[in-house]
Amino acid sequence: MIPGIEGDPLVYLNGEFTPLSQAKISVLDRGFIFGDGIYEVVPVYGRKPFRMAQHLARLARSLDAIRIPNPHTAEQWQALVARLVETLDAQDQFVYLQVTRGVAKRDHAFPRNISPTVFGMTSPFARPSAELRESGVKAVTMPDERWLHCHIKSTSLLGNVLARQYAVDRDATEVVMFRDGFLSEGSSSNIWVVKDGRLLAPQKNHLILEGIRYGFIEEMASAKGIPLEMRPVSKAEVQAADELMLSSATKEILPIVSLDGQPVGAGRPGPVYARLRQGYDEAIAAL
Ligand code: PDD
Repeated sequence: MIPGIEGDPLVYLNGEFTPLSQAKISVLDRGFIFGDGIYEVVPVYGRKPFRMAQHLARLARSLDAIRIPNPHTAEQWQALVARLVETLDAQDQFVYLQVTRGVAKRDHAFPRNISPTVFGMTSPFARPSAELRESGVKAVTMPDERWLHCHIKSTSLLGNVLARQYAVDRDATEVVMFRDGFLSEGSSSNIWVVKDGRLLAPQKNHLILEGIRYGFIEEMASAKGIPLEMRPVSKAEVQAADELMLSSATKEILPIVSLDGQPVGAGRPGPVYARLRQGYDEAIAAL
């Protein structure tokens, strides 16, 4: 039994669906040895993947960035995700996809002529509860000490893992990270600032992961007439925010109501959050 996983669900590994307990990879897999791989997390609502095309486009960009040939076409990835979803009864799921460079004798340089390892699994998705959406979450600030290729959705996540634990150790849900005094992102989410009715977010560059919800919030802001400024956001601006939010596949959009123990704005979810949340729920209902 694996902690946190019930039963023995089917997973996908290199062309086959097998029970999780039977799915094995070589200890020489470069994902294991070097963290040499990339991944995606696709939320599924009412058994339908949300923003699949955007997730597959990001998967392709991540593979391209680390020079692993994409092992599947978009149609093949879609079929794989559809089959994974069929393996569970749950209406809402999140599908995890991972591609590593493959198995070879340990050597940092890329081996020639190896095939990537392709892994996929799905889990029931407990969406953020009504209580959580209403109470909001706590966050703490910290310096962003990760590498300079954060736009790649890499499985090398040690910096993110340590950042998330920094939050947990301080009884917070997420960190808000700063590089050279400017906002980057959370350990596993994008961060949004609201000031005087305007939405502020760091630009999409190599210092943050371009979340699929980042793109969706950008679209919603434009559709709802919420002014959005994508530019460097200073720590002082974050600390003086009227509202703060985080967004990710598994957290959707959540209000951050306390930062380093201080209330954010009025200390409760604000009006811009409410509008974006409504838009998110409507998009899911329309799937
Ligand atoms: N994390 N930034 C980082 C560093 C992330 O790891 C994530 C998502 C995001 C938000 O991206 P999206 O909206 O596409 O989920 C931003 C996923 C959920 C994870 O690692 O589990």
